[in-house]
Parts: sequence; C-alpha cells; structure tokens
Amino acid sequence: MPQKRVLITYKLSDDVLTPLRDCCELEVWSEDRPMTSVELQSSITNCDGIICFLTDQITVSVLDRAKKLKFISSMSVGVDHIDVGAANDRGIPIGNTPGVLAETTADTAFGLLLASARRISEADRYIREGSWRPELPWSPEFFLGKDVHGAILGVVGLGQTGRAVTRRGKAFDMQVLGWNRTPQEIDSAECVTLSELLRKSDFVSINIAKNSDSTLFFNRERIMSMKKGAILINTSRGGIVDEEALSDALMMGHLAGAGFDVFENEPINLDNRLLKLPNVVLTPHIGSATSATRKNMASLAVRNALAAIDGTQMPFCVNPAVYLAN
Ligand code: DGY
Repeated sequence: MPQKRVLITYKLSDDVLTPLRDCCELEVWSEDRPMTSVELQSSITNCDGIICFLTDQITVSVLDRAKKLKFISSMSVGVDHIDVGAANDRGIPIGNTPGVLAETTADTAFGLLLASARRISEADRYIREGSWRPELPWSPEFFLGKDVHGAILGVVGLGQTGRAVTRRGKAFDMQVLGWNRTPQEIDSAECVTLSELLRKSDFVSINIAKNSDSTLFFNRERIMSMKKGAILINTSRGGIVDEEALSDALMMGHLAGAGFDVFENEPINLDNRLLKLPNVVLTPHIGSATSATRKNMASLAVRNALAAIDGTQMPFCVNPAVYLAN
C-alpha cells in the first residue's frame, strides 16, 4: 500500500516529527514565511493530511484542490483560519490543541494587565527616549497607574484559558467576576451576567473563541457599557473587538488602557489607530509563545495526525460529528 502523504506547513523539530516520519511521507515547508494560498493549493493536492498553523487559511478553494485530504490537524486551539463548515461538508475531521496553552496564554493576559495598569511599556519608552532627566526626576504624581490588587477583574469566557486567568486574579487579591455563554460554576470567580460584568469590572479579560457568534462581540455599545476608566485585555483573537470603537473609547478617556496580543489584521496595519495611543500595550500574538508550550502544541498536533492516519478518531477534534456521518 502506498504511504500516506502529509503536508506540514512549518518546519517542526525532528524529535516531534519522528513518529510521523515512521509511518508516512512528509512534505515539510522549509521557508520562514507561511505558504501563499497558491503554494498551499498546489502542495495540498496530493496530500492525505495536513498539519497547519493559524497563518494558513484553509478555505473552500484550498479544500476544493485537496481531493485526497482525510484530515486537518492545526497546531492551535483556535480554528477560525479553517472553513469548518466546508470541512464538515467533505467529512474532514479537524484537530486542534486545547489545554496545553491555557496557562501560558493566561500568563500573557496577566502580563498585559499588569503592564497596562502600571504603564510599564510607556515608562520603558520614556526612559529609552531620554525623557527621564534631572529636571524631571520623580514626583508624587509621576506615572500614576491603577492598582491591580483589590480591583475587580471580569473574565469573559470561562474555558481553560479564562479559568486560568481567574485563578491569577484571585492570587493577586482581586475580586473576580466571570461570564460564559453556557453558564458555569467555578470556585475562582463569581458568575454574573455579561452586562453586570462589564458595568462593574476595572479590568476585563477576553477569553472567548472566534466564530460567527463572537465576531465583533465587543462592539461600540459593549465597549461603552464598560466601567469608566477600565482596562480591556485581549489574548483570544482579533476581530472579536471593534478596534475603531476601542480607539475612540481610549481617546475620549472612557477606557484608561488596553493590552492586546491579537488584532483584526495580523501583522497589524501600520495605520491602526491603536499604535498611536500611549495607553495601549501591544504584543504580536505571542500568547502561547514559550518553548515548552509550543513543543506541547506540536506534539498534540502530531498525536491528532497519527490517530487520523491510523483511521481512529483524533483525540482533540473540533468537529467529531464527521465521524458519525462517515
Ligand atoms: C491558538 O492556538 O489559537 C493561539 O492563538 C496560538 O497562540
């Protein structure tokens, strides 16, 4: 029987790939940049499976070219780069990597929260640009920020990452409120309605997945319903927050700050108004970027692929209903 052929769109380390090499033929994209859609469409044509990343847009056009494709394994928890409906129509299971990045992403959310509250990036820039001079040494009102301890943290989305954020809030002596679309009972947060959470919280952390229900979930009305002087943190996905409305709320002082790791367009457009606002801390989608976590994500993506090659259900599958239909 001919070996199965799997396309991997980024050069993962050899130790992670060894179990796959042992049972199938791998085509590994070796450039540092992601494949273009033309390159992806041409490479996927002869493949039985793909291990992809959030920079690969798995669209209907890509799937139309992938007549042999039996599985998609994404090294990400989010799958908004994949047309899930089109994969369902073709009976293709999609694997993802939940859980292993929750604590690391929660660390990033908290880092952004602390940095925004205490104006750390702004203060760092101030020193580097030579503004901290003898005639402006220190004063009681120098770089005043907001206290984190004792403040109210609202966590929107109580999946694994959201829950990890609530635990960090508790450890920082915050009062933690939580909201989830499907109500949840958890020890580390008091679950309330979304409007109560937005009205009361000094800090709001967004931890929901991006899908058709959550696109622009933080629209102008929701942003303006947040407490005056609050800080908004997003480590989930771009496109969940209306960035124009956010910029307006920051400019008019309705919000005191924001800490964002994810953006509607990535890389961010250089004319994005958020870049001009000093009270915004920005990072380039590095929520899960530690060596250990990326290795765990890669191993999980390979485990999903191995199960699919073996003809069994992927251990982490976002559309398991395709197995019932097959
Ligand atoms: C994911 O896995 O969806 C993350 O955004 C990557 O950090």
